[in-house]
Amino acid sequence: MSGKITVVGSYNVDITAFCKRFPQNGETVKGDSLRFGSGGKGFNQAVAASKAGAEVLTVAAVGDDSLSQRLFDHLSREKMTSRGIITKQGLSTGSALIEVSSEGGENRIIVIEGANSALGGEDVEGFEEDIASSDIVLCQLEVNINATVRALELAKKHGVITVLNPAPFCPLDEGVLELCDWFTPNETEAEFFSGVRINGLDDAKKAAEALYGKGIKNVLITLGKNGALYYNGKELIHCSAVDAVPVDTTGAGDSFNGGLCVALSEGMDVRKALNFASCVSGIAITRPGAADAMPERDEIEKLYADSFGGEYNESI
Ligand code: RIB
Repeated sequence: MSGKITVVGSYNVDITAFCKRFPQNGETVKGDSLRFGSGGKGFNQAVAASKAGAEVLTVAAVGDDSLSQRLFDHLSREKMTSRGIITKQGLSTGSALIEVSSEGGENRIIVIEGANSALGGEDVEGFEEDIASSDIVLCQLEVNINATVRALELAKKHGVITVLNPAPFCPLDEGVLELCDWFTPNETEAEFFSGVRINGLDDAKKAAEALYGKGIKNVLITLGKNGALYYNGKELIHCSAVDAVPVDTTGAGDSFNGGLCVALSEGMDVRKALNFASCVSGIAITRPGAADAMPERDEIEKLYADSFGGEYNESI
């Protein structure tokens, strides 16, 4: 049963340099290759959710420049609607300069916001009916904060499940946290929001408890190769990452969030949902690119069967 997900978020053109190692300050290193692709945390999550089986509306802004065509081409290639894309006159489409190391696929990213910063609360209001009829509204922090807050408010007004992936980090009013049914920081973001320094699973557990204490019902901290940790005040669940040899970790968290929302929209329980999301990111990181790396549903199901075989991870 496919769920309906509205993603309110960013679109960027990603320009990625692959290199053996990152340069130090003032140093020049020779790279291996250069890649242009679609990215942006919002768009990556939207594509991940669509390919994993959901009906997805992407609400995003692009500039009136030639870069924006990449988004329309990508949506059409993936048979996703472009109804939620707003063109902002006089602005450039968002872009990201990315370095990926061939040792472990680690990444470093500089984002140039462009039109993403002009996506406003009033733009989101134009999609209130879509939000009201969604199973889940998924947001990040890479567009104007007014758009994110309005999307969360409208979702709550209509009783729709909200998921906020607070990336990249920016300080939030406590009131915003109360609008989030799910809050899905990575390790670094969880440290900022909780004030707990994370060095291992025990610290992640303390950070999850601190975030729960701020009024978030479902806290999910993604921990890279150490998997993910979930806490809802009663249950604490650790989900391992699936075995994978990473080629490019850009968008790893995005793939996890897209997969998580699909699983929740289909009514999977939390343990299954975490395993499902872990399979989505376990495949995405073995491929170059961000939105281009997202797996198809049948690939996810095969990895799920191979990795979990119907067994769930244990509570800790
Ligand atoms: O999360 C990965 C994404 O961050 C990249 O696609 C880049 O565009 C930046 O938004």
